[in-house]
Amino acid sequence: MERYRVSPVTVTRALAQLAAEGLVVTRPGAGAFRAEPRTAAPDTGDTSWQEVALSADTATELVPRAVDASGVLVTLAAPPPGVIEFNGGYLHPSLQPERALAAALARAGRRPGAWGRPPTDGLPELREWFAREIGGSVTAADLLVTAGGQSAITTALRALAPPGTPVLVESPTYPGMLAVARAAGLRPVPVPTDAEGVRPELLEAAFRATGARVLVCQPLFQNPTGAVLGPERRREVLRIARAAGAFVVEDDFARRLVHEDAPPLPAPLAAEDPDGVVVHVCSLTKATSPSLRVGALAARGPVLERLRAIQVVDSFFVPRPLQEAALELVGSPAWHRHQRAVAQELRSRRGLLAGALADQLPAFALPHIPYGGHHLWLRLPDGVPEAALVAGALRAGVAVAPGRPYFCAEPPAGHIRLSFAGVAGPTEIAEGVRRLRTAVDELNP
Ligand SMILES: Cc1ncc(COP(=O)(O)O)c(C=O)c1O
Repeated sequence: MERYRVSPVTVTRALAQLAAEGLVVTRPGAGAFRAEPRTAAPDTGDTSWQEVALSADTATELVPRAVDASGVLVTLAAPPPGVIEFNGGYLHPSLQPERALAAALARAGRRPGAWGRPPTDGLPELREWFAREIGGSVTAADLLVTAGGQSAITTALRALAPPGTPVLVESPTYPGMLAVARAAGLRPVPVPTDAEGVRPELLEAAFRATGARVLVCQPLFQNPTGAVLGPERRREVLRIARAAGAFVVEDDFARRLVHEDAPPLPAPLAAEDPDGVVVHVCSLTKATSPSLRVGALAARGPVLERLRAIQVVDSFFVPRPLQEAALELVGSPAWHRHQRAVAQELRSRRGLLAGALADQLPAFALPHIPYGGHHLWLRLPDGVPEAALVAGALRAGVAVAPGRPYFCAEPPAGHIRLSFAGVAGPTEIAEGVRRLRTAVDELNP
């Protein structure tokens, strides 16, 4: 501390890091000592046998399953230093409720039994909270706490559709869900959408043509289009699914990413579904931090037992300290303040990004400016190749999400998705669009 003029906290952290790296050992009551140096060099081994093992066709696998994380990693991987992150899937750290989260986690850690086993369905108070948020006649008894939305989607698709069967999906849609479906051996079948969401006449035809028993749908601020399912269509989608004897997986991922200027939001489909057609998915990550991996599945009828069984077999339960922290957070006065601040900031950022795009790239079509969610979906002008633009943008210092992974069949045109929530603020938004413009200019000199 004296030599480097640092605080005891810094010294403790440095020692902890050195211990983790194996350079010092700490002996309680005695002090910290230099560790014996490792004598043997780590054996690098030979893993080439795995290439054969992982590719050998077992021939018994009748249903092809492919685990491809690329569509998910676009929004999870950290961009290279200096690159503006228009491809993020979560709030920038400056928009996350970091202090409220830290306080919630500290309080959660002190709750009695915080490290004990939680009930496998989730903490009763947290299930109550999620049920109240969904509304309608949904109760805590209909609800399971999950490790975020992604694991809820995985559980739902595995519960509802056996390998080899089709699953209807909106086109375009969230690549992470397509990846889950393919990894489960399902065949995603696209159903086109427009400004009001999935198109009912095509949905009906798709159920008829495929015999599918599941539709995955994001009725609110759809990713990537931002569309909200129209009032008439909400009834139609439920009627059509019910007539086809099919479930609707409602991924309500963006409800808490509503912008300040939005009109009152429609309720989740699950709130108006007495017959158990809807399996509802929601999560706290999008409005807080990607690491608050707490979400929920809500369902009615025998399907709930199947969901529960799959979740408990796969992962037992969501860690109790995280559930306790989620409860502490949503019960604190900071929660509503945070939601208001996010709504305000998202509205302002959306306006800045849309304005900068209209200014710098007027030929790029913005078919819909949503009042919720964290991104804009742009259609590229003819003659601008999507892959070359995405690569050129990265060279120019801005990471954008390519549109291709959002389509499970051939896309009708090139697209990109730009997130305005993952960047540091207005200056980065303006600079990011300027860099994108540079990349476009380089494609068409
Ligand atoms: C539409 C949609 N659903 C679900 C998720 C999963 O999010 P999480 O697992 O963090 O809740 C995402 C994340 O990008 C998403 O975009």
